This record gives sequence, C-alpha cells and structure tokens, in this order.
Amino acid sequence: MHSRIVLIGFPGSGKTTIGKKLAKILDYEFVDLDKWFEIKYHISITDFFNKYGEIPFRVSEHQLLTEVLLLENVVISTGGGTPCFHGNMDLIVAHACSVYIKMAPVSLFDRLIHSKKKRPLILNKSEDEVLAYVHEKLEEREKYYNQASHTIKGESLSIDDLVLLVKNE
Ligand code: S3P
Repeated sequence: MHSRIVLIGFPGSGKTTIGKKLAKILDYEFVDLDKWFEIKYHISITDFFNKYGEIPFRVSEHQLLTEVLLLENVVISTGGGTPCFHGNMDLIVAHACSVYIKMAPVSLFDRLIHSKKKRPLILNKSEDEVLAYVHEKLEEREKYYNQASHTIKGESLSIDDLVLLVKNE
C-alpha cells in the first residue's frame, strides 16, 4: 500500500467525509487541504477569496500541497480545484496513490445545494447557475481528475471497496 493516498473530485463529492473514514480504517493521519489552509493562514477560504481573489489562493494551495505531499502514512483530501492548477495533478500522480471520487453533475448539484459548507465559487449563485457551473466546470476539470490512479463512483461508494482498492496498490 502507498504511504500517501490523495482523494480528488468536484466539490460536493464527499472527499472530506470519505477521507476521514479511510484514514481511520488504515490508521493513517488525515489531512484536509482546505482546513490546513485555514489553520495555516488564520483565515477562512471564503474570506481569503473575498480579500485576495482566486489567483493568490491557487499559489498558496500549490505551496501547501507540496508540503503535505512530503508526509507519510497520510490520507489527503484536496479542494475541488487543486488538481487543475500549477501542475498539481502531476505532483499528486508522482507522489501518491490518487483516487477520483466521480459523481454525475446532477448528484453534485444536489449535494451542493444542500451543503452547509460555504464555497466561494458558488456563493451568491441561483440554483440554475449552480447547475450550469457544475456542468461547465466538471467538463473542464475532468481531464485532470481522470489522471488519478483509480476512479470510484461517489453515488454508490463502498468504503470497503475503497480500502481494498488502495490496499492493493
Ligand atoms: C474549490 C473547492 C473548495 C476550496 C475552494 C475552491 C474549487 O474545496 O478548495 O473553495 O475550486 O472548486 P471543496 O472541493 O472541498 O469544496
């Protein structure tokens, strides 16, 4: 088994929830990249986006990713955009066993509109706009997500299957 497991996928695909469970079963440390960002910079991602915008966020996110990819015995859940900037997907592929949690746009839409988590990129969007955003962004991002070592369906995800998948790596 690889000493580093990285979960990738669109916002709402359940990376954090699944990552926590997986880490517990494997007895690995769990790192949520968004949480690490907020702890390290003492600012919520929403406030950071409002103050500085997306471009500096991507620079800091890349920096943090390079740091966490040095850890051992760890499950890392990334932000939905992480694999798509600054060569991050190449880094993930080179340094970890990566799993893309794949979900259909309509499932993601449903999760996102019912989610309590604030997400700056969909904040202030109507439901129709969120649906359009999911379709458009997912298409753009899947070329990165599809480079993952494994893909698993988010809608019917079984944690036992995921454990087997990463253990056989
Ligand atoms: C983002 C997703 C967020 C967070 C930031 C940007 C994105 O993470 O990193 O708001 O670009 O899709 P989640 O996937 O955990 O929502």
